Order: sequence, then structure tokens, then C-alpha cells
Amino acid sequence: MMVYGSATPARVTPGNTMNVNGEPYRTIWLAEDGWAVNVIDQTRLPHEFAVLRLATLREAASAITTMVVRGAPLIGATAAYGVCLAMRADPRDEALSSACAMLAATRPTAVNLQWALSAMRDALTGLPPSARADAAYRLAAEICDQDVAASRAIGEHGLALIRDLFPRRRQPDCVNLLTHCNAGWLATVDWGTALAPVYMAHDEGIPVHVWVDETRPRNQGAALTAWELMQHGVPHTVIVDSAGGHLMQQGLVDACITGTDRTTARGDVCNKIGTYLKALAAHDNGVPFYVAVPSSSIDWSIDGEPMRIPIEQRPVTEVSRVTGRSDDGEIISVQVTPDGSPVANHAFDVTPARLVTALITDRGVCAADRDGLGSLYPEHRAGAPLPA
Ligand code: MRU
Repeated sequence: MMVYGSATPARVTPGNTMNVNGEPYRTIWLAEDGWAVNVIDQTRLPHEFAVLRLATLREAASAITTMVVRGAPLIGATAAYGVCLAMRADPRDEALSSACAMLAATRPTAVNLQWALSAMRDALTGLPPSARADAAYRLAAEICDQDVAASRAIGEHGLALIRDLFPRRRQPDCVNLLTHCNAGWLATVDWGTALAPVYMAHDEGIPVHVWVDETRPRNQGAALTAWELMQHGVPHTVIVDSAGGHLMQQGLVDACITGTDRTTARGDVCNKIGTYLKALAAHDNGVPFYVAVPSSSIDWSIDGEPMRIPIEQRPVTEVSRVTGRSDDGEIISVQVTPDGSPVANHAFDVTPARLVTALITDRGVCAADRDGLGSLYPEHRAGAPLPA
């Protein structure tokens, strides 16, 4: 059974951006006992802030599947700690393989999961079992720190784009940005990807306003993005998913910025369902469409054929029902479809690279194509020497 704990803030570094009621946090951190893992239960937000303690591999896997934690980078970080919990219980080879297999099966689309598990498996396999648990905790902490550094770098590169947009903004009062799903600090270890530049622009005094797509069916925009923008004091407005095209026609969007669960070597972007439609509307209206991509979200093995990316099919009850707070303060779930209507729940889509204005990576901004990514990641260019 998973245990809800007290909200002891995570270890944070100077310049940390995530604040909950003024208290600095990360989304994942070690509990006071030094081995269990604390996470923020995102299924309870925005109505309740609760910290959940994960003490076993099974609990870590379940937290990912049920979306207690979600967002590509945070899924990877949680999987890394899932391996730690497994190694603490049993550090033998079979336990390492079966832990990685169990965690890999939790969510298929975000490539960060495979990336983190490969890093853990590669580092631990060559070690004697007695050394594995300690090494696993060290590496999981490194993966988290790397994610924070990547998000911060994306923030700095994206900030330069927002600075450029400011003198060209379509409305006099502010730069209007549109985002889909949640690619903020809740989706990463800290800072966020798509929202990191927004936080930096706001902190620098650039007037920014964010149109937040509600992001049915799970409403990550309405519930999570709106909540974290509120916590940081960033002006925003929640809109229905189908409103973006209209707002772009009205000159009310200067740029779209989204995250990604998997970007191919040619710059095709897989992200939360509905991202593609926003990119089409942006293209039709001459609105720049930027995607924030940490290195851990690039799948170098897919170079063409982006439709090979596995698209997660989630439970249909996420579509047929909605959850929210009733007037008497209770969290309730209600059915919105007729009894018996078939329902489908495709959780992600692919935006072709031709609709992406640029990728904002942790190494800089580049064109969404093989040359653009190759210029920032020469080690992944075709024909690059294999690492020693
Ligand atoms: O199903 P989710 O909530 O895990 O989907 C999240 C997204 O699609 C995010 O945009 C993506 O993971 C990028 S997060 C920095």
C-alpha cells in the first residue's frame, strides 16, 4: 500500500523555480529515511497538494501507470528510482532485468523512460550485486540533477526567443503564448521544458500571458499547468482545446510552445493528443510553433517513419468520465457519455517536423530536421564515431 506522507520539501538548489505556497520543491526526492522516494501526487491536483511515499518497485511502477507522476522527464526519473527500490530489495541480475521490464511496460510513448532505464541497467550490470543499490541511488540522483540542468538550459534558450517576440507582439499589453498539456515543473524534476522560458521571461519582467489548453481527457492543462502558473504568479487563461485556432485568427497568440514525449532524429514531435491540431492551426495563421526538447526526449533510433512511435491507448473511462470538485468540496467523477457509446482514448499524436518552427533543446535552438539536430548533437550524426 502506498503511504501519504508529510510535505517535507525536496532538496533544492539555488535558483530552483518550483514553489508550492512559497515553499521550494522538486517533484521527486528521497524521504527522510534516505531510501524511500517522495513524489507529489498529481492525480489530486489542483484541489489538494499531497506527497506520496514510494517504498517498493511495484509502487514506483504503479505511480507511473496511474499518472500519480507523469510528464516525460519525470517518468524517467521515477523509473530510475524504481530501479533503486528494486536493487535495495534484491540486487541480483534477475531482479535487475525484471525491474527494468516491469518499469518499461508502464507507459510506452515517452522515450525518457527507456533512456533512464538503459542508463541504470548499463551502469549496474557490470557491478557486483552488493554495490548495486548504492550505485543506483547515486545515478538516479544524477539523472534528476541532469534533468534540472537541461530544463534550466531550455529556459535560457527559449527566453531569448520570447525576448525577440516582445517587440513584435501582436497585442500591445503582453506576449501571448499558447501551451498544450503540462510541460512545466510538474512534468520534470524542476523548471519544466515548455514553461521554463515562460517563468524566466516573467521573472525578467517581460509581460507574458499564457493560453492554457485544458487538454482533455485528463485535463493536465486545466488542472496542472494552470495550478503551477498560479503558484508562480504568471498571468494565464484556461481555454477549451478547440479554442486555439480561433485565438490565432484573432491575433491573440504570438507563439505556441509545447513539450514532447519523443522527438525523432528528423524533428518529428510526438506529444499529448491535440498537439498536432495546434501546430496545423499555427501553420495556417503564421504563428511560430516551438517545441521544448531535452536531450533525453530525442529518439535517435527513429530517423523517418515517425508513425513507428508507440502511441499509448489509455483507459476509456478517462474520456467517458470527468473528475472535479463539487460545490461542497468533494472530489467526484461523473459520466459524460451515453451508456453504451463506444469510446477511444489515443493519448498522443505526432506533429510532422515541417509544422515545427524550431526545437528548443538544452544545447540551443535548432531547425526541426536532421541537420538542425545534427548540428547540436554531432555525436548522433550519421557516420559519427561510436562512443568508446
Ligand atoms: O500523459 P502525460 O501527462 O504524461 O503527457 C505529458 C505530455 O504530453 C508533455 O507535454 C510531455 O511529456 C512533455 S513534459 C516536459
